[in-house]
Amino acid sequence: NPIHSIQSRLKKPNSIISKMIKKGFADFSYSKIKEEITDIAGIRVICQYIDDIFTIYDLLSGQSDVKVVKISDYINNPKENGYRSFHMIVNIPVFFSDRTEHVNVEIQIRTIAMDYWASLEHELKYKNPDNIPPFIKAKLLECAETIAETDYKMQEIYKAVSNIENQDN
Ligand code: GTP
Ligand code: MG
Repeated sequence: NPIHSIQSRLKKPNSIISKMIKKGFADFSYSKIKEEITDIAGIRVICQYIDDIFTIYDLLSGQSDVKVVKISDYINNPKENGYRSFHMIVNIPVFFSDRTEHVNVEIQIRTIAMDYWASLEHELKYKNPDNIPPFIKAKLLECAETIAETDYKMQEIYKAVSNIENQDN
């Protein structure tokens, strides 16, 4: 099973409005919000190994009713601060008794280790949004790189163990 755990969240109305304002919009109609805010529904999929992330991506993009709107591969292209995760915006049909609506969902796929880093970094950013001291930023980046290295090592161990098991059977 490539999935370790799944979390989901709905963006609160006040966050939706703040994001619209931040993006420079004054039209808060349902249709405009639906067009502009692609992460009202958010799902986080946590995996054990890096390869699992791409397995899930392949599985999702192969689904006939899931339309991939956008992907951001922050694993092969990490953010400057060290953030790693695979992001997808997908458009899926939601069936009501009288109609079908298509909604965007933000899916973040990451390993347990990437999630560990992101949760601490997010907490720090949330507590002091403007001034994380440079030495903390540098330490976080260092940790992100150590974690990434460990993630790749764990992946190699997993592959080696699978090979041994296959030989035994
Ligand atoms: P938002 O306006 O924040 O949604 O960002 P975006 O539209 O540019 O999309 P992006 O893919 O960069 O980020 C979307 C989400 O990914 C964020 O809301 C966070 O949950 C997560 N994320 C992105 N960058 C970081 C980061 O540097 N640190 C942490 N902890 N999470 C991040
Ligand atoms: Mg967001």
